[in-house]
Amino acid sequence: MSTTALLKIDDKEFKLPVIVGSEGEKAIDISKLRAETGHITYDDGFGNTGSCTSAVTYIDGDVGILRYRGYPIEQLAENSSFVETSYLVMNGELPTAAQRSGFSKLLTQHAPLREGMLRFIQSFPRDSHPMAVLSATINALGAYYPHLASNNHQRDLEHFDEAAAIAISKVRTIAAHSFRVSNGVPFNYPRPNFGYCENFLHLMFSEPYNEYIATSEVAQALNLFLLLHADHEQNCSTSTVKMVASAGANLFASVSAGVNALWGPLHGGANMAVIQMLENIHADGDDGTKFIQAAKTGKGDRLMGFGHRVYKNYDPRAKIIKASFYKALASLGIKNDPLLDIAMKLEEVALSDDYFISRKLYPNVDFYSGLIMRAIGIPSNMFTVMFAIGRMPGWIAQWREVAQNPKIKIYRPRQIYTGKTIRNYVAMDKR
Ligand code: ACO
Repeated sequence: MSTTALLKIDDKEFKLPVIVGSEGEKAIDISKLRAETGHITYDDGFGNTGSCTSAVTYIDGDVGILRYRGYPIEQLAENSSFVETSYLVMNGELPTAAQRSGFSKLLTQHAPLREGMLRFIQSFPRDSHPMAVLSATINALGAYYPHLASNNHQRDLEHFDEAAAIAISKVRTIAAHSFRVSNGVPFNYPRPNFGYCENFLHLMFSEPYNEYIATSEVAQALNLFLLLHADHEQNCSTSTVKMVASAGANLFASVSAGVNALWGPLHGGANMAVIQMLENIHADGDDGTKFIQAAKTGKGDRLMGFGHRVYKNYDPRAKIIKASFYKALASLGIKNDPLLDIAMKLEEVALSDDYFISRKLYPNVDFYSGLIMRAIGIPSNMFTVMFAIGRMPGWIAQWREVAQNPKIKIYRPRQIYTGKTIRNYVAMDKR
């Protein structure tokens, strides 16, 4: 196989190295292109640009493959938990029993927030968006734990386990506390004897007179939701984390930037859009048929939760989450939900319709995840927050790759300037 690519510009030829990943993905290395040719590449939206090498996640969207550290998502969903998968994603290997229990202890130890952080969260207006509270409070972790946020990667890496456990454990507490503040109800304190997901549900929903004890099906559905979101290689928020990290920034500053990127509706907001779509269809008295007809003309709204930039096959996460969804519904005693009926109708029609088949539009993970969270009682403005909790181990793992890279260069793309060419300053009275 050729290990170089040949580029011809005018009458000059340049040899560019070809690099090959462990799954055979090929890339033309253009890192010396500008120095040697005076040209840069132009790739609006980075659709063809490999921004880094990474050993965390492998995706083949054409056939619907997703693997964390080489393990198929289906096997992890079947056998693992969010906490164990987080360890795998961050450290590269499944934990031994001792490593697993050490990690759990760290998570338990770091679940509560310091009093100052509680007051910080309480100081936000009641109608604050929980994503604003989440990103601000995660960033503030750097102020509360300055020894973990030195902005010197070597020093920060010496405390990696502690910083990672703080981020993973506290993101859950901060998220639940922001929900409690927005509802004007007091915080709950984490219970050391509860698992990660059970604890989150307790922090969200327990009342002084009525402790919330999650059923195993509901805890399992939440576990799966988080596990399925743990990493997704170089997407918008992860690239943002790496961009910030490349300047030397500490873990908390970098992942809080990831939260902000995720807040955008094109990235983390699709699960909420699915529920809004279903509510609109229901309010219109439609069973989904009219909506699909309109979506096919290209003039109506898109079928939210269908299609994916990378997956041109069934999103493997959608298949897994759908199966657990029905178990959770049964456990919650939900039988007659009109939105669920509409969702099932939309899915049935779309999967047998040539418009969707020919365009390779299949359900993505968001089609079901919004429904699951709604069934659990999580309000729709918290959906993106849930995504952020799930994605935390991936952001941390990808931050670590940057921090550990001795040859790391600050991420600094170039541009093609299209503005005015040089001109002279015009005095105020001449404008
Ligand atoms: N409903 C109806 N038609 C669609 C849909 C949809 N959901 N998605 C794509 N199409 C059509 C387009 O109109 C286009 O049709 P045309 O060829 O006749 O012009 C064709 O399919 C290809 O569309 P693109 O936008 O080029 O596909 P792309 O792969 O770029 O888009 C995207 C992927 C943005 C996810 C798109 O499918 C979409 O908008 N889906 C709905 C939103 C959604 O669910 N987003 C969540 C993504 S998953 C995640 O972020 C975790």
